[in-house]
Amino acid sequence: MSITAIRGFNDILPGDSEIWRHIEKEAHGIFSSYGFSEIKTPIAEKTELFKRSIGETTDIVEKEMYTFADRHGDLITLRPEGTASVVRAYIEHKLYTTPVNKLYYFGPMFRYERPQKGRYRQFYQIGAEVLGDASPRADAEALAMLMSFFERIEVKGAELQINSLGCLECRAVYKERLKEYLSGVASRLCENCLRRMEANPLRALDCKSPGCIEATERAPSILDSLCGACKDHFEKVKYYLRLSGIEPKINPRMVRGLDYYTKTTFEITSTGLGSQNAVAAGGRYDRLVSELGGPETPCFGFAIGIERVALILKEGGGYKKPLTVFIALGDKAEERSIQLLKGWRERGIRVVEDFSTGALKNRMKRADRMGARYTVILGEDELNSGVVAIKDMKTSAQVKLPFDLAADRVSIE
Ligand code: HAM
Repeated sequence: MSITAIRGFNDILPGDSEIWRHIEKEAHGIFSSYGFSEIKTPIAEKTELFKRSIGETTDIVEKEMYTFADRHGDLITLRPEGTASVVRAYIEHKLYTTPVNKLYYFGPMFRYERPQKGRYRQFYQIGAEVLGDASPRADAEALAMLMSFFERIEVKGAELQINSLGCLECRAVYKERLKEYLSGVASRLCENCLRRMEANPLRALDCKSPGCIEATERAPSILDSLCGACKDHFEKVKYYLRLSGIEPKINPRMVRGLDYYTKTTFEITSTGLGSQNAVAAGGRYDRLVSELGGPETPCFGFAIGIERVALILKEGGGYKKPLTVFIALGDKAEERSIQLLKGWRERGIRVVEDFSTGALKNRMKRADRMGARYTVILGEDELNSGVVAIKDMKTSAQVKLPFDLAADRVSIE
């Protein structure tokens, strides 16, 4: 029996890896234009870090973490998300001596969830965190950056849903109101939500069990419990979003699966993913840094699910760089191809030269099996007239074009 990969852990193969690189490259470009710098943190941390930041009564901490004792007996956890690590590093390296830190990261995260389309046990996130900025403009700017990213890579139908979870004071008021409501519908709640009702009643709004969804349909809205300052913050975030041309959808039930949020929370969903339709999510977390032992530091951040974005791009055919196979016939053409293809590659064209020998017909078949979108032939006649023959492998149409124009032609999908 051959050995397979661990369930929920994926290989990213050629075909997909180009899409991944494209996503990553665009993210680096856009994030850097907003002044973000990359941070790389370890993929494992002390278990305590995630328990304290994500929250003891969340699904992630209760049942999804990859936790084990190392050889010394210390408990360590493969990171289920990136924010806790960034905050730990921010405190450990005293990054707070700079007024605002804009940091982003790319890497694998681990959650022991039931795998399905768009949901895996090892998955990649690109995340960004703004540490040290309390302004609602910081929320709106980060969201606008994220929406431009989705626009740039052509993720169609991205919808922004936002909510506010208030601050400690107004959330405490809301929790009481919600608890009162939940005790009235307690018989319809699942065991998990009943158990968490005292410590963390908000979890019931996030529960996927049909009974809880139905029972909480008429639950009071958190937006009606916000204090003046939180209401004002929320109104301003919406106002600045509209100035950026973004109309958010208000979703007062969105409480998110992590406990560190205060004020703004959000999710961006996209069509075509089935039930796992959130492509990015995040929000404000004004208390996490101080709770983990750092100075009071208001923060806002988000993470994008790369597998989900890659699925959308692949299914929509939204990103493809066509492959050209180049066939030179004869010594002179072979020699000319070296300089010619150097120029094409400098222009970003994806071209593989076929070094095989044999009948042209067989070499054309070989190009087809390599997945060529175009096959370009340079024979002696073409060389003498400064042209190449291009065969469109989809339509079988053939044209002869001068070298420069040929490069433009094979750039088109
Ligand atoms: P999250 O909502 O848990 O937030 O994850 C963010 C995104 O990661 C999701 O919207 C989804 O696209 C992707 N994702 C999550 N779990 C999986 C999975 N099992 N398989 C595939 N993709 C998945 C966070 O992780 C927060 N740290 C975001 C944040 C940053 N908040 C503030 N700063």
